[in-house]
Amino acid sequence: MTHIITADRRMRDLIQLAKTVAQSKATVLIQGESGTGKELMAGLVHENSNRASKPFVAINCAAIPENLLESELFGYERGAFTGAVTSKAGKFEFANGGTLLLDEISEMDIRLQAKLLRVIQEGEVDRIGGRRPIPVDVRIIATTNRNLGDCVREGSFREDLFYRLNVVNLTIPPLRERLGDVSLLSSHFLEAYGVRNGKSLTGFAPEALGMLEAHAWPGNVRELENVIERAVITARGSLIAPQDIAVERRQTDLGGAAAGEAKPEQGWMPGRTLDDIERSVILEALQYHSGNRTHTARALGISIRTLRNKLADYRKIGIHV
Ligand SMILES: Nc1ncnc2c1ncn2[C@@H]1O[C@H](COP(=O)(O)OP(=O)(O)O)[C@@H](O)[C@H]1O
Ligand SMILES: [Mg+2]
Repeated sequence: MTHIITADRRMRDLIQLAKTVAQSKATVLIQGESGTGKELMAGLVHENSNRASKPFVAINCAAIPENLLESELFGYERGAFTGAVTSKAGKFEFANGGTLLLDEISEMDIRLQAKLLRVIQEGEVDRIGGRRPIPVDVRIIATTNRNLGDCVREGSFREDLFYRLNVVNLTIPPLRERLGDVSLLSSHFLEAYGVRNGKSLTGFAPEALGMLEAHAWPGNVRELENVIERAVITARGSLIAPQDIAVERRQTDLGGAAAGEAKPEQGWMPGRTLDDIERSVILEALQYHSGNRTHTARALGISIRTLRNKLADYRKIGIHV
């Protein structure tokens, strides 16, 4: 059972709204930065709906190449394309009667967006190479860590689909806007990972908690969870000590390291999130391919569109790519 931990007023209102709209078949768009709990919220909607005993099927639109995403979503008939040796149902059919979570919807290519809109409007899917449409009864939840309205203005997302998806909007605030949740979530993860690792920890040393509360949490709850998991593993006593907390100290504490001169770090080290590591890998691949995005995307096994979006994000934080 999904349990969203929070003491924040806005979050509580959101959870209430999610439970209320769960009862309807309305499409829900969940927005929020990476790691804020969008998938968790989607699970909450499903569990509180009258579809709870039916399938909850999720697909990540950013993780799957375009042509594969189409066949995963809509299915295909035998012989529809080279390699289609048997027929296969798509996620829409698997989710029939239940809920389909379209994770990171902004990454879906515009041609597929048109096909998705048709399925939502008609309530039936066409398998690739199929002869007749198959009726489906599916509740759609979409998530995005971009502002989908901006994507519409930039022309990368269909306006009509946006309105179809955005019937109910749940925007989850970043953790830095609800810092009161930091200690609550920290205790929760301390307990959970303590049990998992067979360690009986009683809490945090005050300085350790202070570090957690001073951090800006760009990776939100996911980052916090990772930091606590690591702290539980390294803790020696019954309290989490400051040296167990792997977050970067304030910028002013970093000293005068010559920024930009060293080769970017690629592996994990204390304070680095998966996003940090991903960013340095992408930038290195881009450099290797002399800035050629097509080659870089292919080498990394992601779509050009995803690469472009990520680079746009890096520019927002001041990296010139
Ligand atoms: N309020 C919360 N209470 C408990 N766990 C949370 C909360 N928010 C996020 N998490 C946990 O943080 C991690 C990231 O959440 P997720 O839903 O995958 O985020 P997103 O989809 O927005 O990137 C998951 O392990 C999730 O269980
Ligand atoms: Mg997610």
